[in-house]
Amino acid sequence: MELRQLGPRGPQVSPLALGGTKFGRREGVKYPTSFELPSDGELAGLLALAKDLGINLIDTAPAYGSSEARIGALAAADDHWRIATKVGETFVDGQSQFDFSPAAIRASVEVSRQRLRRDVLDIVLLHLSGDDEAILRQGAALAALLELRERGLIGSVGASTKSVAAGLLAVDQCDLVMITSNASDQSQRPVLTAARGLGKGILIKKPFDSGHDADAGAALANLVRMPGVTSVVAGTISTAHLSDNCAAVVDALMER
Ligand SMILES: NC(=O)c1ccc[n+]([C@@H]2O[C@H](COP(=O)([O-])OP(=O)(O)OC[C@H]3O[C@@H](n4cnc5c(N)ncnc54)[C@H](OP(=O)(O)O)[C@@H]3O)[C@@H](O)[C@H]2O)c1
Repeated sequence: MELRQLGPRGPQVSPLALGGTKFGRREGVKYPTSFELPSDGELAGLLALAKDLGINLIDTAPAYGSSEARIGALAAADDHWRIATKVGETFVDGQSQFDFSPAAIRASVEVSRQRLRRDVLDIVLLHLSGDDEAILRQGAALAALLELRERGLIGSVGASTKSVAAGLLAVDQCDLVMITSNASDQSQRPVLTAARGLGKGILIKKPFDSGHDADAGAALANLVRMPGVTSVVAGTISTAHLSDNCAAVVDALMER
């Protein structure tokens, strides 16, 4: 898979990325069926296959349970991997908790640097909640992240948004934006268009509507060819699905 530049500062990333929610969290998620977390051996096998297939980006977050720590242990020492993580949300005792204060953002980045065993985090996104627009307008959370970028602790700064209004603000203010796009939700198209116009990166989350869309191959073929999309972050803990997803992306990009 040919790598693509993610926003003005990079890094170069594969058009298909590995979503890490199911690596570390099985409660309070919206997948259609329950599942067991992969064992260390299974996760190592999945990551090795992803690397062989040309995937170089993993998405994780402090809110994904043990996901960050497991990626830190299994992948972070390998320069092949670009890792995106987030700030602002944690998942404690079965509940999401949000804190977008500058002190919490700085503390979260410090914990992620330790868990991911990296001095410099490739990508850090604000893990925005339902009041995404207000948090971006208030400005302190993003300012804290941008300061960490200026200090050299973060490569690229972005926001994972929910509303179009917040997505458009994030396009203006950040290096990249993470938005939902799938067969049942294409409401974020204006964000994609704006990002493309300004050369900002776009990561797609929930490409299969968290597993509720039956045709994963068609969803990926559509998304990786969509102008403005840098990389599609698809969640899987199945090596068979990972191989299928990769084949769908390679075929779609060859046809283009
Ligand atoms: N920033 C945010 O607020 C936010 C929110 C949601 C998600 N995300 C990121 O986006 C990533 C992707 O979103 P998501 O995990 O919610 O959902 P998704 O990628 O839309 O769907 C994942 C589900 O689809 C299944 N699947 C994957 N490939 C398949 C295939 N070829 N055939 C059939 N089923 C397949 C997976 O099951 P198997 O494991 O069995 O393959 C899994 O249950 C997350 O992991 C996370 O990194 C971010």
